[in-house]
Amino acid sequence: MRLSLTVNGERREVDGVWEGESLLTALREHLDLPGSKNACEQGECGSCSVYLDGELVCACLVLAGQAEGREVITVEGLAGEGELHEVQRAFVETGAVQCGFCTPGLVVATAALLRDNPAPSEDEMREALAGNLCRCTGYEKILDAVRLAAENTSAQSTAERAAS
Ligand code: FES
Ligand code: FES
Repeated sequence: MRLSLTVNGERREVDGVWEGESLLTALREHLDLPGSKNACEQGECGSCSVYLDGELVCACLVLAGQAEGREVITVEGLAGEGELHEVQRAFVETGAVQCGFCTPGLVVATAALLRDNPAPSEDEMREALAGNLCRCTGYEKILDAVRLAAENTSAQSTAERAAS
């Protein structure tokens, strides 16, 4: 089938998508966006997290056909031209990336958390990332990254408010 959707702000159309194919497979294999990872394909690990019409979803649990005409943002679409997203920078600065397989999903989930709740409590951070599994880091560095991203995001909004 033909799939038409908007991905990372760009209208895309691809042919040859199988009716039973997941959005994750379509992104990785038809749309040349391998950032979202396939670790479990069962909605258990969060490594395939993307926004679908602004909502955080596991792309492995969404049929590609369900994304027809809709808007998807992947980890590749979070950052601006030539620069890292605040959350990506925080993951790098705190050493929260080891093998990196879980990182794209964690970055998207953290960005979604901070978009909706710029100053999350410890419990809210842990709850928001409860669906994202990491086999390497023990999660402490990841939580450090979320705290740093939250601090930087709120400092940035304060500076923007002061300048306006
Ligand atoms: S690959 Fe989608 S949740 Fe694990
Ligand atoms: S850094 Fe390896 S799975 Fe998280």
